[in-house]
Amino acid sequence: MNKKLLQDKVAIVTGAGRGLGEAVARAYAAEGAKVVVSDIDPNAAHRVADSIEGATAVPCDVRVPGQVEALVEAAVKLHSRLDIMVPNAGVARVAPLVATSYEDWRDVTSVNLDGVFLCIRYAAPAIIASGGGSIINMASVTAKAACALIGSYAAAKAGVVSLTQTAAVELRAHNVRVNAILPGFIDTELVKSHIPEFEQQLKLPDFGAVVAQRQGRYGTVEEVANLAVFLASDRSSFSNGSGFVLDGGVSSSLL
Ligand SMILES: NC(=O)c1ccc[n+]([C@@H]2O[C@H](COP(=O)([O-])OP(=O)(O)OC[C@H]3O[C@@H](n4cnc5c(N)ncnc54)[C@H](O)[C@@H]3O)[C@@H](O)[C@H]2O)c1
Repeated sequence: MNKKLLQDKVAIVTGAGRGLGEAVARAYAAEGAKVVVSDIDPNAAHRVADSIEGATAVPCDVRVPGQVEALVEAAVKLHSRLDIMVPNAGVARVAPLVATSYEDWRDVTSVNLDGVFLCIRYAAPAIIASGGGSIINMASVTAKAACALIGSYAAAKAGVVSLTQTAAVELRAHNVRVNAILPGFIDTELVKSHIPEFEQQLKLPDFGAVVAQRQGRYGTVEEVANLAVFLASDRSSFSNGSGFVLDGGVSSSLL
């Protein structure tokens, strides 16, 4: 029998209570990993972990250094090692920059950028102590091309791409690879919950039609999870410091 791609690897996925994080957790487990399912929402983390063989729920707010440190400690205590970290937790606020409150700016950047920094900061030493591994940051194609009304989110995601590059260079000698995934619009609650605001503020009759015209269709969480499996596995052994765009071509087309 072929060995699974992530057999016996230990992985933490943050924001895994639903959406992309949940799909990544499921895909990792299907490839043999022991997954620590983390989310700010304990019920969501437990719901997902309880339905995945070998998974454990460890709630954590990625904005809080002590909680991220405790998350990594819990994973190592459970499984005596850590191989993979996926800082995936993210939030968005929909408003033009000039109407964005400082509180909303800080909220978005603290989850999407500070949270990724904290995950790298605390997970990397544990991965190094385990002999090396992989960190996969969930960025966004908005790091590369503007999308009106989500400037704070896009700025945080551009910061994630930069953090990915620095971490990759600094950790390369320790056998830790660091890459980022830059999805376009994927069919999740994050997108669905903000569609009315986009339609109202940009005066679009049908946001779905715009996505269809620009991207072809929404991406699926499984399509993102497939890339996350590749980046966590030895199949991507020469990929380091890179941002992998997954957007149906939207960021490389004019029309
Ligand atoms: N859906 C998309 O189109 C899309 C595109 C590009 C990038 N992304 C990124 O992918 C990631 C997942 O997005 P999604 O669409 O699955 O979102 P989602 O809203 O469906 O899920 C996000 C999860 O993160 C959790 N979370 C929120 N704040 C947290 C915090 N402070 N600490 C820990 N967990 C927290 C939520 O409880 C939720 O379970 C995010 O980083 C998002 O920015 C999504």
